[in-house]
Amino acid sequence: MDHFLYRDGILHAEDVPLPEIAAAVGTPVYVYSVATLTRHFRLFDEALQGMDHLVCYAMKANSNLAVVRLMADLGAGVDVVSAGEYLKARAAGMPADRIVFSGVGKTRAEMRIALEGGIRQFNVESEPELHALSEVATELGRTAPITIRVNPDVDAKTHEKIATGKAENKFGIPIARARGVYALAASLPGIEVVGIDVHIGSQLTELEPFEIAYGKVAELTRALRADGHDIRRLDLGGGLGIPYERTNTAPPLPIEYGDMVRRVLGDLGCEIEIEPGRLIAGNAGVLLSEVIYVKQGEDRQFLIVDAAMNDLIRPSMYAAHHDIVPVVQPEPGQEPARYDVVGPVCETGDTFAKGREIAPLAQGDLVAFRSAGAYGAVMASEYNTRPLVPEVLVSGHQFAVIRPRPTFDDLVKRDTIPAWL
Ligand code: LLP
Repeated sequence: MDHFLYRDGILHAEDVPLPEIAAAVGTPVYVYSVATLTRHFRLFDEALQGMDHLVCYAMKANSNLAVVRLMADLGAGVDVVSAGEYLKARAAGMPADRIVFSGVGKTRAEMRIALEGGIRQFNVESEPELHALSEVATELGRTAPITIRVNPDVDAKTHEKIATGKAENKFGIPIARARGVYALAASLPGIEVVGIDVHIGSQLTELEPFEIAYGKVAELTRALRADGHDIRRLDLGGGLGIPYERTNTAPPLPIEYGDMVRRVLGDLGCEIEIEPGRLIAGNAGVLLSEVIYVKQGEDRQFLIVDAAMNDLIRPSMYAAHHDIVPVVQPEPGQEPARYDVVGPVCETGDTFAKGREIAPLAQGDLVAFRSAGAYGAVMASEYNTRPLVPEVLVSGHQFAVIRPRPTFDDLVKRDTIPAWL
């Protein structure tokens, strides 16, 4: 459930009519709902009740300071994957002991920043990374709490670009080699083993792959404990999918996911961490855009909108579906028109949808791309020298710009021409 609903025929974000935001900020613009973000965090938090747990929001999904501040205030932790995310989390007020650091290629400089600033744990993904972390921690006179991310070789049954738990993927250590790597970790100075980490992919629409992976983690926990390691924390990653298309059967709910976790891992007495990103932020945001032209092609109509692939890359990158809805609710019984929905960027890949049925639209009408709160603004660029898309946060009747649109002047001044040219 989200808080983007029609009221008196106009699509609202909570109590704010979207046309009001378009008039104040311009389009394209991302609009997020505090009530939806809050609700989604709580669904996970409640799903894990009864187990010692921390929901570490994967801030790669939406790393706006205001969103991360909201998560911190709700009691969430964060999963970060770069020094930039770490420093943004701290700037947003996230306590250091609620930050976990994931990623296959952490640099020594990034390790230093996190060790000096404080960290809950590093999720280590290789032997060379383990050696580097040991050296950096020893240099600084600190101890790095770690889990090792294991690769359970499980098919997450998701898009190939976002599956991470198969043997052929770059992530984690093959689970068969895990005991050796834990023995190495235990022997290194500056390293303290605290648990196990696993993340098998994103936009999973079934529980089964999670269950298989977590079963392997349970088995490994027992084996590692028998080897003498103090395994007290299990980081289960993120990945629970969201219903992008309302016609499809819905993915499992957080409560069902929580029940499965309890069933598979509940008897181990471990603290549970999860790293959901998409399910918290995805349906908590829309990309609001205006129709520039309706263009008649040879055999089709193009709806040319002012958002483009640089603002929302998911359709061109993953062939992802986003519902596109008119901001003014169509009259009941109105026959839909059929459009190829495209942006102004100069490549054919700048296509959001083909042959999509939407109520008839005209120049100047507003549309909303739904489920755009995760992996939307964070993946935006200024390709075609289009100013980075701004972001707005809504709570009840109030809204605020949480990232302004750069001016054309900002954009031009970002580059410099060498004196010798
Ligand atoms: N933890 C780790 C280690 C991850 O790599 C990810 C996502 C998450 C947690 C959060 O997964 P989520 O709950 O959001 O599924 N740009 C792609 C998604 C990439 C996901 C990368 N890792 C998209 O737009 O679909």
